Amino acid sequence: MSKVHVFSHPLIQHKLSIMRNKDTGCKEFRELLDEISMLMVYEVTRDFPTEEIDVETPICTAKCQVLAGKPIGIIPILRAGLGMVDGILELVPNAKVGHIGLYRDPKTLEPVEYYCKLPEDAEHRQLIVLDPMLATGGSASAAIGFLKKRGCSNIRLVNLIAAPEGIARVQKDHPDVDIYVAAQDEHLNEHGYIVPGLGDAGDRLFGTK
Ligand code: PRP
Ligand code: URA
Repeated sequence: MSKVHVFSHPLIQHKLSIMRNKDTGCKEFRELLDEISMLMVYEVTRDFPTEEIDVETPICTAKCQVLAGKPIGIIPILRAGLGMVDGILELVPNAKVGHIGLYRDPKTLEPVEYYCKLPEDAEHRQLIVLDPMLATGGSASAAIGFLKKRGCSNIRLVNLIAAPEGIARVQKDHPDVDIYVAAQDEHLNEHGYIVPGLGDAGDRLFGTK
């Protein structure tokens, strides 16, 4: 069974509370998502391997640590996952970015794929899938499924807010994928929205409603 990591850091919680407020506008919403994503990736990468190298400082040769292991790929689920990319690239600037386009059919709540472009060597990378909202889990589960079909196996999922239903779905479909969230909310409403949530993340990010 995969693990769920909930980030209770005060800075993350403070910023998320402002994002939840319905009166927070697009610009501030985008900036906050950017900042929280940066804070979250710091924790998501905490156990990444490092190796020792020699560095010539102005004083002497020092034994120093640098990132080792697989190169990183970040995979935003369009559209709302795009809002998490820049914050993460601030801290892992060499990561490659793949895009998976999915939208949730408003009636069936089933994910519909419309775009997929991954780094050529995606299967050799440590992948971090991004989507602010994990509701039914259909979109995240489908996106992870596409990646696995492409031969990818090192995958972590990062969400801002997750519903218990979405977590259960991803854990059932992908027990090898750990989930990192800023908050685990109460439940889904009859329209598949997370309660209390923050509304439609894509619309709030891009001002489409
Ligand atoms: C939202 C959100 C997730 C999905 C979550 O996207 O960004 O991708 O819904 O719901 P699920 O867990 O039930 O699949 P949406 O389909 O609204 O598309 P958008 O990002 O283009 O707005
Ligand atoms: N997608 C969103 O953007 N918000 C929700 O609450 C559920 C799905």
